[in-house]
Amino acid sequence: MAKRNIIKMGDPLLRKISKPVENFDDRLHQLLDDMVETLHDVGGLGLAAPQVGILRRVCIVEYDGKLYELVNPKLVKSVGKCVDNEGCLSVPGFRGLVERPEAIDVEYFDRKGKKRRQHADGYFARVFLHEMDHLDGILFPDKMIKKIIDRD
Ligand code: CO
Repeated sequence: MAKRNIIKMGDPLLRKISKPVENFDDRLHQLLDDMVETLHDVGGLGLAAPQVGILRRVCIVEYDGKLYELVNPKLVKSVGKCVDNEGCLSVPGFRGLVERPEAIDVEYFDRKGKKRRQHADGYFARVFLHEMDHLDGILFPDKMIKKIIDRD
């Protein structure tokens, strides 16, 4: 396993549309393992492959002590709206208020290529949606309705 470098806003790779994963092979498993190691090293709730410079539709979410590895995730249901604050490992220095659906259902494949479905609501749903946005080159400041600057 190896920790990977997290690229920051301004890097054009973060603005690309990532391609679907076609092979659920060792290379994918290595990427996922590295992403988990990287997330654990820096701390955070999620990480998407483009943030480590890999333009594939892969992201991870760690919420309530549980790790979710999402390959080719797709939003299949979305209900309501809510506003809360979020930040991003690729956007250091500030957080922002973003409107997102209140509850969602996501279909995705696990690392072995098995299809799965996950319901999420509240902040858990927000983390999934934030990570999935990365796969389409979207960063939270694009959707931000108010910037929050942390002051020490
Ligand atoms: Co992010």
